[in-house]
Amino acid sequence: MKVLTVIGARPQFIKAATVSNKIRKDGNSEILVHTGQHYDNNMSDIFFEELAIPKPDYNLSIGSSSHGHQTGSMLIALEEIYLKEKPDMVLVYGDTNSTLAGSLCASKLLIPVAHVEAGLRSFNKVMPEEQNRILTDHISDLLFAPTLTAVNNLKNENVTKGVHNTGDVMYDAINLFKERAKEISTINEKLDLSPDSYILSTIHRAENTDNIERLTSIISALSNSGKKIILPLHPRTKKFIEEYNLHVGENIEIIDPVGYLDMISLQENAKKIVTDSGGVQKEAYFLKKPCITMRDETEWVETVDNGWNVIVGSDSNKILDALDNFNPTGTPASAFGNGDTSSIITDIIGKYIG
Ligand code: UD1
Ligand code: UDP
Repeated sequence: MKVLTVIGARPQFIKAATVSNKIRKDGNSEILVHTGQHYDNNMSDIFFEELAIPKPDYNLSIGSSSHGHQTGSMLIALEEIYLKEKPDMVLVYGDTNSTLAGSLCASKLLIPVAHVEAGLRSFNKVMPEEQNRILTDHISDLLFAPTLTAVNNLKNENVTKGVHNTGDVMYDAINLFKERAKEISTINEKLDLSPDSYILSTIHRAENTDNIERLTSIISALSNSGKKIILPLHPRTKKFIEEYNLHVGENIEIIDPVGYLDMISLQENAKKIVTDSGGVQKEAYFLKKPCITMRDETEWVETVDNGWNVIVGSDSNKILDALDNFNPTGTPASAFGNGDTSSIITDIIGKYIG
């Protein structure tokens, strides 16, 4: 079989790390296309090097721009590659503009589409991610839902054909790389961080960064928390903190975005995690760390239902209260598969293509 995989943004590199290697290990042919949506070394190359992701066959170097321009440029470039490579199936991940461009281009050329992380819903259509995932799900032939909730979300939209509850590839990834992180990462020593002495934070969601009130409220809560905060800063957020001229407290240590192995170490060593990232909410759950989510809703409802994640939006008081008082106990229930999702996905693709 010949699978063409489209990736372009940080979380997609991590997700593809497990599946791409499995596809190739099974003796199948994979063409890997990097759209270039993320391009800084610490947003892109570092993941390929650390996680031994195969070198992309094509890098479209699309870069940053408005949604229409970015997605449209990807569509134009991808069409040429699909026509040349004639893949049996196109494989896309998650909910970014690279996901939508990859799936839409394939659908128009009548190439079957497989979507990893299908069925996630925030029910907030203002989010670009919600638009990307709904559209991609409705043109996909194989839909790999990570949770039962995702399967039910699809059922509610009358999407049942090709839906498989596979578990979550990010659970595979963390299991695969946790030991490597222990061996290789020295970030905690470098930053002089003892276990449980700090809160780890990430912020990048457009609804927070592109809204001055929300970003001001978040940064001021973190600055007034009286706690040491480690903040690997996404370039989008860096840009807006500068643009809004926000005051960042001395208790917040801003660092450049880190590679996945350092990120696992920072998460494992943290007392709590406060984030608006989708992937980080799940990793906090896998690593049994209390997660405070600075969004108004989450797609990963299992983490909240099981008591290890609390939704606080951008409200300063709620963020501060959770930083002080959110202390879940017990063991997070298994909700994201058994860590063999990449094998399950590869097998289903193999059977589909024949
Ligand atoms: C994208 C995804 C989001 C995902 C996130 C993962 C969309 C619509 N959004 O958001 O779902 O959670 O990736 O991190 O696809 N920039 C750089 N260097 C880079 C990449 C980006 O400086 O390597 C800056 C640019 O100023 C750019 C901004 O970050 O305009 C935003 O990048 P973009 O890829 O458009 O969206 P993300 O916020 O990264
Ligand atoms: N991540 C990373 N370095 C960082 C911040 C995040 O490796 O500096 C990893 C994180 O561990 C998770 C993934 O990136 O695996 C999440 O990506 P992101 O938060 O950018 O996007 P989202 O998951 O919200 O789409």
